[in-house]
Amino acid sequence: MRKTIKKIQSFKNQGKKITALTAYDYSTAKYIDEGGVDMILVGDSAAQVVLGLNDTTEISIEEMIIFTKAVSRATNNALLVADMPFGSFQVNKEETMKNALLFIKNGANAIKLEGCSDLTIENIKHLTQNSIPVLGHLGFTPMSINCLSGHKIQGKDFDKTLEILSQAKKLEQAGCFAIVLELMAEQSASYITKNLTVPTIGIGAGAGCDGQILVSDDLFGKYDRFKPKFSRQYINLKEQMLEAVKNYCNDVEQGLFPNKNESFELDYNEAKKLENYR
Ligand code: KIV
Repeated sequence: MRKTIKKIQSFKNQGKKITALTAYDYSTAKYIDEGGVDMILVGDSAAQVVLGLNDTTEISIEEMIIFTKAVSRATNNALLVADMPFGSFQVNKEETMKNALLFIKNGANAIKLEGCSDLTIENIKHLTQNSIPVLGHLGFTPMSINCLSGHKIQGKDFDKTLEILSQAKKLEQAGCFAIVLELMAEQSASYITKNLTVPTIGIGAGAGCDGQILVSDDLFGKYDRFKPKFSRQYINLKEQMLEAVKNYCNDVEQGLFPNKNESFELDYNEAKKLENYR
């Protein structure tokens, strides 16, 4: 049975760490779900790891909907959250609602919004009051890359930590069921986590958060254009895929693939007719 928002929130009080990963396609999502994560995010990191774009500002809502549909078809257990891409929640709350509904209608259980602007707070209130659960996202917010000038650690001192805590409290009051904290000093993220009632899910924010999320391509060792210091690679799929492709090319070139078991045969008599035909 699919995990609910309430279940995810209950883990904070139980002291059970929340596990989350991103997914974008059917088969990977299926194994991530079967592997037992609590939450799957159809992240806008698909911009880089699936589409080869430069950053998340470039991905469209149509592309995100295709990934959301595929992941939804593949999963039964994890709570499914979809990232609302840049441009889909920056105009006004009516348009945000229309776009959020597209994700829910296509299989997401909740959506994620980055940041804490006045409009974002208004959006969160409007969505949550109308039965659309929202996951917040603070600290480094990748879709603000053009304003943040690069991947910089956030909440680096006392004042900045309190600033992010005050943003987090605003998100909590607006109705977010949980908040992602990205690229932040461990002490800052821990302090913020202890001072919120909703769970925090860290990425590059140390071990003190209520849960962790990683981009699955980083965990699988599949994306090699950028390797964040905070991610951990559990398998080198790039190496294994390269090896498989080389072996395949070699087998085809040597006439070793396909073999008899991998081919289809005519009936004996039909084959004979063909052999004797000129
Ligand atoms: O898009 C994404 O993958 C994310 C995670 C980094 C949390 O937002």
